Amino acid sequence: MELKIDNAGIAREIIKKTGENLIPVSEQINTVVLQGGYKANESFVNLPSDEEILKEVKKVASEKTDQNLKYIIVVGIGGSNLGAKAVYDAMHGHLDLLNPKRFPKIIFIDTNNSETLSNLKNLLNTEIKDPSEIIINVVSKSGNTVETIANTEFIAGALSEKFGDISDRIIVTTDEDSVLCKKSEEKGITLLSIPENVSGRYSVFSAVGLLPIILAGIDAEEFLRGAKNMKTLCISENISENPAMLSATILFLNYEKGKTINDNFLFHGELETLGKWYRQLMGESIGKNGKGLTPTVSIGSTDLHSVGQLYIGGPKDKLISFIKSKKSNGVSISTGLLPELAEGINGKSSEGISDAIFEGVKMTYIKKEVPFMEIILDDISPKSIGEFMQFKMMEMIYLGELLEVNVFNQPDVEAYKEETRRILLEK
Ligand code: PA5
Repeated sequence: MELKIDNAGIAREIIKKTGENLIPVSEQINTVVLQGGYKANESFVNLPSDEEILKEVKKVASEKTDQNLKYIIVVGIGGSNLGAKAVYDAMHGHLDLLNPKRFPKIIFIDTNNSETLSNLKNLLNTEIKDPSEIIINVVSKSGNTVETIANTEFIAGALSEKFGDISDRIIVTTDEDSVLCKKSEEKGITLLSIPENVSGRYSVFSAVGLLPIILAGIDAEEFLRGAKNMKTLCISENISENPAMLSATILFLNYEKGKTINDNFLFHGELETLGKWYRQLMGESIGKNGKGLTPTVSIGSTDLHSVGQLYIGGPKDKLISFIKSKKSNGVSISTGLLPELAEGINGKSSEGISDAIFEGVKMTYIKKEVPFMEIILDDISPKSIGEFMQFKMMEMIYLGELLEVNVFNQPDVEAYKEETRRILLEK
């Protein structure tokens, strides 16, 4: 992965000077890495190197599944499902409609939506002939998120109607201290734990992300390898070698200049959920105490024909992070139907056309003085996605320091959860 900042709208000396304030943060992260374990808030950085977690997740995955597996239903919300969904959608999910016969598929259930649930019940009734074809992974750090518990009850109920006791087809991923953990244990349900100080949006390299990824046949070792490589870079005290420190500093300096929106413009449709994962990471980590950048997600080319005009011609309140892969998949366009219209296109690969569009967009942004960073992925692979995710999570630590906010809590999300539980009990 490469981070390009030439057009980010901030002079290098100012970036360097501001970045010097972050050296103690990189030292603190380094200490957390050297100490290992999960006592510190930043200790999610230790997850990619944790061989025990990987071993345990692989063991559970192989004990619980075989070649019969067709559907993995992940029940969770926010930090508890977006990471796995980002990886799955990038590697397989975006093709699920075009490739309906590829199995196993993951179905992510987060919102409590009756249309979705009744259609899911139909699918279970018609498509599942044997319990070995399905696994339910319930993911909740707190163990008491209303949406997750309600959806779990519905799905477990629907399966029990058909097969009787299906508790051995459920795997619960939760905090060891949660009531969900205790009650699942009493019922003999298989458990995977989330380390003590690892909260939802920082948990993708724990069992939270690893189990669905492994069950879907995605290379978890490569995913973790990408994250490990990136961790080493992102603890460097040298800002020009540390993409997380560099990106956080640029986001902060632009924020101070009124660029309060950070649009993540991903030039690959299959990375849309990765953009949404980052939107949640930044939104919940930074948006507090009256502060916050608003993260948005756009897809190239789709949104060039949607919000493109606004971003170029509208208020100058945005810093764009373009995300593009170097990969070329070799599909080429040959013209025959309307050759007069296709000048410049004939014989080009679809990636070549997309590259030209990307260059055209950048030129326009430069002319119109809309600042942007470029995040160039080597390819779209588990390793590159692991790199990107570790980069962005570590970026939050640095950004939180600059904005003086605690990036590890979400008091206002907890407040809505509490209110909801109260209302449901009263009704
Ligand atoms: O990132 C977070 O901490 C949140 O988005 C949580 O993941 C989300 O609220 C779900 O909570 P839980 O995992 O406790 O069910």
